[in-house]
Amino acid sequence: MSESNQVTEPPSGKPSVSRRDFLNEITLGALGVAGLGGTALTYQYFSPNVLFEPATTFRAGNPDLYPVNSVTFLQDQQVYIVRTTTGFYAVSAVCTHLGCITQWKPEANTIACPCHGSKFQPNGRKIEGPAPRPLPHYAINLTADGELQVDKLQTTKADEVLRV
Ligand code: FES
Repeated sequence: MSESNQVTEPPSGKPSVSRRDFLNEITLGALGVAGLGGTALTYQYFSPNVLFEPATTFRAGNPDLYPVNSVTFLQDQQVYIVRTTTGFYAVSAVCTHLGCITQWKPEANTIACPCHGSKFQPNGRKIEGPAPRPLPHYAINLTADGELQVDKLQTTKADEVLRV
């Protein structure tokens, strides 16, 4: 029988890792964590602090896409394109109370806010609810190639209509 297969245990009362090795490993671990933190902070400091926002001007397509006397919700732009017998206007879909996204209710011919119950006419005028202001109208015009274009940075008067 060979004795090399036997597991030897340290003599009782003596630690298997020396105090010096233990402190060295703790120190190396702490230095590693501090180094990673420093690297992350340096990367964050040198990376550009840019806020990417969607474009404020967008094309809404050919006017023929919108039937007369219709309200069309453009979800990705959060805008209603309203076509009446006299022309087009663009109304914000963001409630002026606390910023919820409103919903077009064709059966009631109103734009309704699901959060606190404000209601608006299709032209943005407030009917009822806590909203302090009507829904703003955005500038709308035709591009050179005949498409509707909305500029969400420019508001217009509620009675301004794009005649097509
Ligand atoms: S957010 Fe629309 S009514 Fe409050």
